[in-house]
Amino acid sequence: MNNQLIPYGKHFIDQDDIDAVIDVLKYRNLTQGEAVDSFENAVAEFVGAKYAVAMSSWTAGLHMACLAADINETQDVITSPITFVASSNAVLYCNANPVFADINSETINICTDALEQTIHNNPKTKAIIPVHFAGVPCDMKKIQQIGIKNDALIIEDAAHALGAKYTDGSMVGSCKYSDMTGFSFHPVKSIAAGEGGMITTNNEDIYKKLLRLRSHGINKLDDNFINQDRANTEGKQNPWYYEMQELGYNYRITDFQCALGESQLKKLPDFIKRRKELVKKYDQAFQEIPEISSIQQDYRNDSSHHLYVVRIKFDQLNITRADFMYELKENGILSQVHYMPVTSHPYYEKLGYRTASFPEASSYYEEALSIPLYYSLTNLEQEKVIDTIKKIIKK
Ligand SMILES: Cc1ncc(COP(=O)(O)O)c(C=O)c1O
Repeated sequence: MNNQLIPYGKHFIDQDDIDAVIDVLKYRNLTQGEAVDSFENAVAEFVGAKYAVAMSSWTAGLHMACLAADINETQDVITSPITFVASSNAVLYCNANPVFADINSETINICTDALEQTIHNNPKTKAIIPVHFAGVPCDMKKIQQIGIKNDALIIEDAAHALGAKYTDGSMVGSCKYSDMTGFSFHPVKSIAAGEGGMITTNNEDIYKKLLRLRSHGINKLDDNFINQDRANTEGKQNPWYYEMQELGYNYRITDFQCALGESQLKKLPDFIKRRKELVKKYDQAFQEIPEISSIQQDYRNDSSHHLYVVRIKFDQLNITRADFMYELKENGILSQVHYMPVTSHPYYEKLGYRTASFPEASSYYEEALSIPLYYSLTNLEQEKVIDTIKKIIKK
C-alpha cells in the first residue's frame, strides 16, 4: 500500500479509456461529432430508454429538464432536502419555487408520505425531482402515482444511480415511472467523463426540446421549422438554414468526453460488482458496533452503490464529527458528509427555508459520514479504513 491519502470516492481510468479519447483527439470532431451520438445511443440502450441527450453537466441537464417541463415563476417543484444543491438550484434558475419534503430514515430518499402531504399543501406543484440517494432508487411506483394524481411531471435525479435497478428489475433511466431521468459523469460518479451529464426520456417532444435547449435554442431538425417558406427554396431545404426558436444555452459536451464516457460504460458492470463486494465487507465489519449503523442495508440488491454512508452516534462516543474526520485524515483516510441539507445553506436560509422543518433530514445530517468506496479501493486499504474507524471508536 502506498502512503497516498485514501479518498472517499475516485474514478478509475485504464488504457482503453485513454485510447478512446486519443482516437477522438487524433481523428475525429472535438465537439458536435459522432462520439456524442454514439455515447447517447449506448446509454439509451443500456437503460432501455428511447432517447438520450448528453450535456456538459447534470447541473446543466437539470436546468434543461426544468425548462423542458415548462417550469416557470408561478410554480412549485418538490425535491429532497438531502441532495446536492444542484437538484433545487435548477428550479431557482427557472425563477420557480423549490419545495422540500422530508426523507425516509431507512432509504434516505424522499418520503412518499411526506411527498403526498407536501404536494397537497402546494397545489401549484408542476414537477417532482426524486433523488436516488447513494444509488438506491426511490419508490418510483408510488411517486408516479402521486405525480399522476396531482398532474405533476417527474424528473429523476439519478446522478448517483447509473446501473441501479428498480425493484421490478428494470433500469433506472428507462423512464418507466417518469418523464425524464438524468445522470452525472463527474469523476466520483458511477462512470466518469471529466464533467458531463445525460438525460433519458421516452417523450419525443421533450427530446427535441432538450436538443434545442442544449444549443442556444436553435433548431436544425427540418420537421420542426417554424418558417417553412424561409427554410426552403423551390421545395428544397436551404443548406445554411437554422432557426432560434426559444432561448437556449451552450450546454454541449465535447466528443472526447463522450468517448471517455462510452468507454467507461463498458466497465460499469465490473465497477458495480466490486463496489458491491466492498459494501458487503463494510456491512459485516460494522454489524457488531452499536454506535455505528450503515444506511440503506435493506436496499443493497438494486443499488449502484455510489456512496457508503454510516450513521455514527458522535455524542455517545464523546467525539465531534470534525475530530473524527481529522483523526481519519491523520491516518491517511478522507471522508465526507453527503449532504448538508440544502435548506441549511445561507442562500436558502435567506429565502426563508429552515432545516428544522425536516426532522428526519436533520437527524440524518447530525450523524452521517461517507467513508471510502470506489472500484480501485484495495482489500488492504479497506481493512485500514475499518481498523482505523474501530480504533477511533474504542478510544
Ligand atoms: C444528487 C446530485 N444531483 C445533481 C448533481 C449535479 O451533477 P453535475 O456535477 O454533473 O453537475 C450532483 C453532483 O454531484 C448530485 O450528486
